[in-house]
Amino acid sequence: MCGVVGYIGNREVSGVLVDGLKRLEYRGYDSCGVAIIDEGQPKIFRSVGRIGTLEEKIRQTNPTNGSVKCGIGHTRWATHGRPSEINSHPHRDCTGRFYVAHNGIIENYLYLKHRLMAEGHVFATETDTEVLPHLIEAYYEGDLEGAVRRALEDVEGVYGIVVVSSEGDGRQIVAARNGPPLVVGMGSGENFVASDVPALLPYTRSVVFLQDGQIAVVSSDSVQIKNSQGECMRQPPETINWTAEMAEKEGYAHFMLKEIHEQPRAIRDTLRGRIGADDTVTVGRELGKADFLAGVERLQIVGMGTSLHAAQVGKFMIESLARVPVEVDNASEFRYRDPIITPKSLVIGISQSGETADTLAAMKEAREKGARLLSICNVVGSQAARQSDAVLYTHAGPEIGVASTKAFITQLTALYLLALELAQLRRTLPQHEIQRHVRELRDVPDQIRKILDGSQSIAQLAERFWQYSDFLYLGRGINCPIAMEGALKLKEISYIHAEGYAAGEMKHGPIALIDAEMPVVVLAPRDTVYRKTMGNVEEVKVRDGIVIAVATEGDCEIGQKADHTVYIPEAGSFVNPILTTIPLQLFAYHIAVLRECDVDKPRNLAKSVTVE
Ligand code: AGP
Repeated sequence: MCGVVGYIGNREVSGVLVDGLKRLEYRGYDSCGVAIIDEGQPKIFRSVGRIGTLEEKIRQTNPTNGSVKCGIGHTRWATHGRPSEINSHPHRDCTGRFYVAHNGIIENYLYLKHRLMAEGHVFATETDTEVLPHLIEAYYEGDLEGAVRRALEDVEGVYGIVVVSSEGDGRQIVAARNGPPLVVGMGSGENFVASDVPALLPYTRSVVFLQDGQIAVVSSDSVQIKNSQGECMRQPPETINWTAEMAEKEGYAHFMLKEIHEQPRAIRDTLRGRIGADDTVTVGRELGKADFLAGVERLQIVGMGTSLHAAQVGKFMIESLARVPVEVDNASEFRYRDPIITPKSLVIGISQSGETADTLAAMKEAREKGARLLSICNVVGSQAARQSDAVLYTHAGPEIGVASTKAFITQLTALYLLALELAQLRRTLPQHEIQRHVRELRDVPDQIRKILDGSQSIAQLAERFWQYSDFLYLGRGINCPIAMEGALKLKEISYIHAEGYAAGEMKHGPIALIDAEMPVVVLAPRDTVYRKTMGNVEEVKVRDGIVIAVATEGDCEIGQKADHTVYIPEAGSFVNPILTTIPLQLFAYHIAVLRECDVDKPRNLAKSVTVE
């Protein structure tokens, strides 16, 4: 998830672009750039890191002195090609006439790149995006919109793009959308384009939201919206009545709530290009040599906090589906316990930020002992990614809230894909079984959407419990780590004491805590251990404990036993941990809001813990 902007008008263009990018920085901030066409002369500025650095670069050269000023800009969240100046957008063609800033993923970029190179095009970057300006160059016959439309016919994937050209004196921006958002801001004698409203609000509240397949041809005195056939569409502008700050959160009160609601999109992006039309799994090419994976005898997964909980769920998925023994370690313990590593060991480091010192140190320890390293990471170019032999990126986009939500859900999705890929390679599952699992994965975004649409009941539940001071979370099997995760979410944002336990562990101690003041959250989807879990519900009820159950739709039995029940859609046993997590995220969120905690920046915590 990146941010793109475009401006054409009489203002000092670089100021408008930089200001817009700053307001989109929550979408990605590992590198950035602008391309300005000033009296037909293209000027490019790019830099690694935050917009401030780019702004300083531009200020030192004072680029524009022409009348009509046109330009595009980009703030990056890398997916293909590590964050570097050369890989930052906008990207150009061989002749330096066409410039493109892109938010999204071009899935068939390797095929297009090889085709264009065979036609003589010279590539300068590692990115997927660079194929776009070269395609436009290949199809350009005097009409920029036509060349963009033709180029996009060759593209598979998602995009929100803005394009400018020195051809025709740069009196035009062409914008196109298929998937990621793109908004046109209407001005008088000037017009704007951006990935999101915050970049436009200082200048206009009159906007047109582009729909999938639409192209906008924007000049300083006109905006034409066209459909995929090139026909003009009448699309009256809407008026936005948000503050810029509200807009960054897209109207949500906190980044955490926004990120919880982004999970369906985050999963779709993490599945994108990794499952085939025939419901097979295709992450193999990202995981390094197939023969190595097929020969792995021992898997060790390390992580901290929420990433450790993901690792614990991953153990269930990989052992059950691929029949490889998996050890899971708290990274800060792993590196000091002289772990047994063999040449047939694969060590997986899970980290949203890719910068967590404990996890990096554990991966380094494993490397020194001769293990191969795979990281499951959300930040392209982070240390974890750089020190690994292979990386399976989660495409959650930037996670601003300290409490990890969408990154966790995409980690579970990536681990499910990894387990299925290993099962496919090691032939531990028949093809039709793999395909069944893939179909179940495809349904997850809609199932999560359903839970989110019915989340008012969880907010009401939080109103009943926000004043309690202790909580127990119980889960069995693959949902046991989810109980730990639910407790962690509540602890870290509401500062309430909460413990997650394997439900079977209860009677070996924690049951002593049960009384009428102890709410117990029980994860009880209809799975192979359901009956056992119901036994634990009984144990709590007979001691006057309060049971809040997360259960499968249609399960009346638990509805009669538990004091409160939150239902999730019926799903397969490997999808359940993804779905049971959502109500726990929302429950913790609403309780923290009611306790007036700083939900996005909780006390004593940092988004990335870079010290041991
Ligand atoms: C989770 O909400 C916390 N922010 C924290 O436990 C986090 O999961 C842990 O610090 C690991 O971070 P990482 O995934 O970036 O390595």
